[in-house]
Amino acid sequence: MVLEKKCAVITGSAGGIGRATAVEMARQGARGVVVTDIDVENARKTVELVEEAGGNATFIPGDLRKPEEIKALMDTAAGTYGGIDILVNNAGLLEPNLTDDASIEGLPLEVWDMIMDVNLKAVWLASRYAYPYLRKSAEPVILNAGSVASYNAYPANMAYSASKAGVVALTKMLALELSDDNIRCVAYSPGAVETTMLSKYLDAAEDRSAVERGLSATHLARRDPLLGQPWEVAKLICFLASGDALFINGSSHMVDGGALAWRGSRGA
Ligand SMILES: NC(=O)c1ccc[n+]([C@@H]2O[C@H](COP(=O)([O-])OP(=O)(O)OC[C@H]3O[C@@H](n4cnc5c(N)ncnc54)[C@H](O)[C@@H]3O)[C@@H](O)[C@H]2O)c1
Repeated sequence: MVLEKKCAVITGSAGGIGRATAVEMARQGARGVVVTDIDVENARKTVELVEEAGGNATFIPGDLRKPEEIKALMDTAAGTYGGIDILVNNAGLLEPNLTDDASIEGLPLEVWDMIMDVNLKAVWLASRYAYPYLRKSAEPVILNAGSVASYNAYPANMAYSASKAGVVALTKMLALELSDDNIRCVAYSPGAVETTMLSKYLDAAEDRSAVERGLSATHLARRDPLLGQPWEVAKLICFLASGDALFINGSSHMVDGGALAWRGSRGA
């Protein structure tokens, strides 16, 4: 129960890694979990799953493209649970899921802007608006979703990669800026994890199974399933949020099956 008495806000928690984190936080004793997303139906399902796991959850809607909604979200979250201890900036968007043409000439400007708004600017804004509450917590922490794409280039990922590299830089800046208030800021950087985001990405590929084989062939971890699972990222997030991780700050932690540890591919 390493998260006992903690209250967490998790963006993008209608599914995937965010949902798994909400449920895992409940299992690890969190006092309250704020589920927030634009996908209302699936966010409500996450609330049910948290409750089934014995936790308390509240759905607060919010569009991360809208600064005033992010501020209202943090104010309501803090009002609901009497503060915020953990902010997980987890929501994210990937361009092949938003457009048929993610090439340098084809990527629509609004798609570039949307990705930057959700993946990067909202991380800054959510941190800004959670800050007045985090600074009152005994062990406050901000956890940000990076990616293997923060470090390496992948096809059709120009806006995504740039935003995720920005997340790693912003994580360091927040760790520095907020250190006087004892607020840690840490990034988690997954590899290929089986979620809606990944399956939409694979669906958009010309040869779905070839891309899937190619991704999993970069993993040094050989086990079944070959792709990462949302709960595996959730476990890392919960550890980074816990009192066992108080010496971890400003860093980014891979959870990628070893994909970035080498430059090869094992074949599928
Ligand atoms: N799945 C992977 O392979 C993988 C790999 C590396 C990094 N990541 C990162 O992990 C995080 C979670 O990814 P996931 O795979 O669980 O994705 P997902 O698509 O399952 O979940 C992302 C959530 O963000 C929400 N969202 C999108 N735009 C929003 C907005 N404007 N306001 C509020 N919510 C919004 C979506 O509705 C969705 O529920 C993302 O930041 C992603 O970039 C995922």
